[in-house]
Parts: sequence; C-alpha cells; structure tokens
Amino acid sequence: MRIEDPQVVSALPDLGAELRRGVALSELTSLAIGGTTDLVRIRERKFLPVLVDMLDATGVPHRLLGGGSNLLVPDGELPWVVLQLAELEPGVRIEGNSAIVDAAADLGRTVTTCARENLGGMEGLIGVPGSVGGALRMNAGAYGTQIGSFVREVEVYRAESRHIETLRGEEVRFDYRHTSFAPGDIMLSVRIELPSKPYEEIRQGIRISNEKRRASQPLNQKSAGCIFKNPPGASAGRMIDELGLKGHRIEDAMVSDRHANFFINTGRATCAQMRQLIEYVRERVRNSYGFELEEEVIYWKA
Ligand code: EPU
Repeated sequence: MRIEDPQVVSALPDLGAELRRGVALSELTSLAIGGTTDLVRIRERKFLPVLVDMLDATGVPHRLLGGGSNLLVPDGELPWVVLQLAELEPGVRIEGNSAIVDAAADLGRTVTTCARENLGGMEGLIGVPGSVGGALRMNAGAYGTQIGSFVREVEVYRAESRHIETLRGEEVRFDYRHTSFAPGDIMLSVRIELPSKPYEEIRQGIRISNEKRRASQPLNQKSAGCIFKNPPGASAGRMIDELGLKGHRIEDAMVSDRHANFFINTGRATCAQMRQLIEYVRERVRNSYGFELEEEVIYWKA
C-alpha cells in the first residue's frame, strides 16, 4: 500500500513521523516473512491520534508493528500501511521500585537495565524477543513469569475514544497470552513495579532462564516462538512431537526439530507455505487428540 495523498505525505514530518517507502516486512519480522508496504515511523507519540485520524479520513488502512517477533505477515504487496514506534532514548527510566518503559523498548534490554538497578522479578522473560509494547499487548510470559503481573499503569492510544489514555494496571485484564486491550489500541508506555533484589541474584536467575531456553528452543533460527497456545492441561509442543512431526516441512517452512511448537523459516519460506504447515499440524492434532489448537502467533490476514 502506498500513501498517495500529497497532503498526508507532507503532514507527516510535522507530526513527528517519518515515511519509508516500499519496506519489506520480511526484514522486520523474526520469521523473515512478509511483503512490502509503506512504513510510518513515529517519534512524537502525542500526535498519534491526529496521525491515525488523518489516515482514517483519507482511507489509508493501517496496522501497528511492534518488534515483529510474534507475527506472520502475508506475501506480496500488503493492503495496509504499517505504523511503528521509533525507539526513544532512554527507553527505560527508573523511579524507586518502578520502571517507566517506552513501548518501543526491547524487552530483554529492559530486563537487564532494571537488573542493574537491583530490580528483579522479570528474569524468566529475558530471552523473549520483541518490544515491551508487544509483550504487554500479548501478556508475554516464560518460566512462570508474565509481564502483566508487574504492570501498574499503561499509557495507550485507545481505538474507541481515539485519544491517549492512562489506565491503571487493574483496569487491564491479563490472561494467558491474551489481554483486554482492543485490536486498534496502541501501547505507548508502561509503568512496571518490581521487587528489590541484589544484582548478582538477578544475574543468576537470568543465567538459568537462558540455559533452559537454549536447551529446548531453536534460538538462532528464524521463528516466531511458539506457533500455538497450549490448550488447558495439554502441551502443543509435546503433542506435535508425539505425532512425529518434528522436521516436517512444506518447502522452507518447517516444524523445528528442537521444539515442535516452533516453526522455522529455513530459507525462503512464504506466508502461504507457513499457513499450510500450520493448518496441516492443526488438523493432525485435532484428529489424534481432539484439541483445536489456537494460534499464539499473530496472523495479519489480508
Ligand atoms: N515437549 C516435547 N517436545 C517438544 C517440545 C516440548 O515433548 O518438541 C514437552 C517438554 O518436554 C515439556 C512440555 O512439552 O514436558 C512443555 O514444553 P516446554 O517446557 O518447552 O514449554 P512449552 O509449553 O512448549 C511454554 C511457552 C513458551 C515458553 C516456555 C517456557 C506457550 C505456547 N509456550 O512452552 O513460550 O518459552 O513455556 O516457559 O505457552 C512463546 O510464547 O512463543 C513461547 C516460546
């Protein structure tokens, strides 16, 4: 999708936004899959409501990209313009036991920045790739820790009011890989509150999570983490593994031979091939176990 309206194009710099033409989403997603479109990088968050109003008024469909680490994007020319928050410096500000974190900040770096200030609790999240905004929206979790449990305040652009609002943590529902935010809501910043802990102790916890992750997950391959949510009381990875599907592939889209709930792009996989693989595995699990696996990865269906 190309932003054609010259008035929109010329307004963007004044709104603290930068237009990049014809960006390949395959370069911005951890799966390295996705077609091309115009990308608008947003520095001035306060103008976001004006920007979104302007795009809507001129009929430009848009989607928000976070860190691109839990996302499957269609191939070819995309039917939306993509918005992305530019990373601001500093991404993390410490105030006592609170960290005020910009949504574009990297989650892993946030964990280590807080650790250096003797603020712990998030050790389990260390290897989760992506931005804090994306983690928040999905309630990212690992090794018994979910980001939602630390959230005290969220600054968010709300699709319904079309304004930037500050919500208290209690006003947001954080469930397993799901939150009560609306589809069009855009996370801007968050205040998390963390327990005090000596740096060395946090480092030890970080080391343990890293080791566990390295032992069971394909970290240096192109994936979007787990493809499916675990159904209540069952493990998607174990079921796919038991079906002998590790290494099963459709061209370059492959079930990881390390962790069966990770699907890998081994080269030039397309979104269509990844979709076929997802549907094939879902059907096999349904037929053998009776579970209808729900995707954890976000699919931007065109
Ligand atoms: N298992 C297998 N074969 C496999 C993979 C797993 O038999 O190929 C078995 C394991 O041996 C274990 C069980 O399945 O007994 C669960 O596996 P694991 O401990 O790896 O955890 P998971 O449920 O597959 C979840 C999260 C991960 C998170 C880990 C660690 C989901 C969908 N996945 O994986 O999150 O890193 O726990 O806490 O909840 C993600 O969200 O993208 C993600 C990777």
